[in-house]
Amino acid sequence: MKTRITELFGIEHPIVLSGMSWISTPELVAAVANAGGLGILATGVLDADETLKAVRRTRELTDRPFAANVTLYFPGNRKNAEVLLDEKVPVINYSLGKGDWICKGAHAYGGKVIATVATEKHAVAAQRDGADALIVTGYEAAGHGGQITSLVLVPRLADQVSIPIIAAGGFADGRGLAAALALGADGIAMGTRFMNTLESPAHEGAKQASIEHQVADTVYTDRVDGLDARYVDAPGAQRLIRQHMNPLSALLRSREIAALLGLPWAKLAAGIVLSGYSKSVQMARMAIGFEAFKNGCTRGDLERGALPLGQCTGLIDDTPSVAKVIDRIVDEAETTRTRLEQVFESPVAVS
Ligand SMILES: Cc1cc2nc3c(=O)[nH]c(=O)nc-3n(C[C@H](O)[C@H](O)[C@H](O)COP(=O)(O)O)c2cc1C
Repeated sequence: MKTRITELFGIEHPIVLSGMSWISTPELVAAVANAGGLGILATGVLDADETLKAVRRTRELTDRPFAANVTLYFPGNRKNAEVLLDEKVPVINYSLGKGDWICKGAHAYGGKVIATVATEKHAVAAQRDGADALIVTGYEAAGHGGQITSLVLVPRLADQVSIPIIAAGGFADGRGLAAALALGADGIAMGTRFMNTLESPAHEGAKQASIEHQVADTVYTDRVDGLDARYVDAPGAQRLIRQHMNPLSALLRSREIAALLGLPWAKLAAGIVLSGYSKSVQMARMAIGFEAFKNGCTRGDLERGALPLGQCTGLIDDTPSVAKVIDRIVDEAETTRTRLEQVFESPVAVS
């Protein structure tokens, strides 16, 4: 299967592993690359040294193209982006920030850049800033998806930009890939599906959760880490949703929050006092939500942790290898195409 992204990145299949902290590790990224997709190494919770080691480890495990992400909103991620540029990582994926300098740096060595967006405004800005492709994340997605469903967001943005689009949020099988292509995308990115694979380092409890939970078993809320995001609907997420937070409670918990964010306490306390009501509440939620998110992913702890899961959890019922997931999706997309050809050619509807 050839699309603009298979050509742009030099990959076999238009299938991308989303960047997931603690999960999109060199091992999983290389498994996806070796199976013909594009793996995005997650650096959101790594420091610059750890990022360097992860990039080099990925290169030991695969000689195929791979990507690495930076979340520009997180403290310290700018340095990670500099490491990716120094290391000439083939594809850099940025989100939640302005990436014009990343585009310029990557293009200087022939690298490519993907911006992750969830709105029209950010899509148009990223194209203007020089991004070569977009990951467009819809409402169905695990984690920080947008407020518009992929079904509507993808075709709308495909009309707004000329660069290729990778659709994310709600994709777990070949019908989804075929649908994304029909909507104007050039491929799909998947988090929930790849999280539950044999090579994924996610906790077995997290993998099992994606098998047991159905399409309606997730919640979309800004009360876990301060930004709209989707998690599995379980006691840990519900506890955070109920948790009362105001600048005073943030200040009272500022030592704990500073430790979680790796910031000096005085700097954080001053930030809470000076940043105003909504920003300080968001900062406090970010720190507390971050710890819960880590517990969800690395311990599969749904009682105290918060595990991001997309609505497509309801389409997942096994734990195959990465290669099997990719082969299956490609086969299913082909079957879907044949079925659609019959639908269009036949005067009688085929089910
Ligand atoms: C367990 C898990 C952890 C995730 N962690 C992150 C993360 O650290 N940073 C991030 O930007 N997105 C994260 N995501 C979201 C994915 O990058 C991606 O946008 C999303 O999974 C796509 O939707 P899907 O789950 O329907 O495939 C995570 C997703 C899952 C399932």
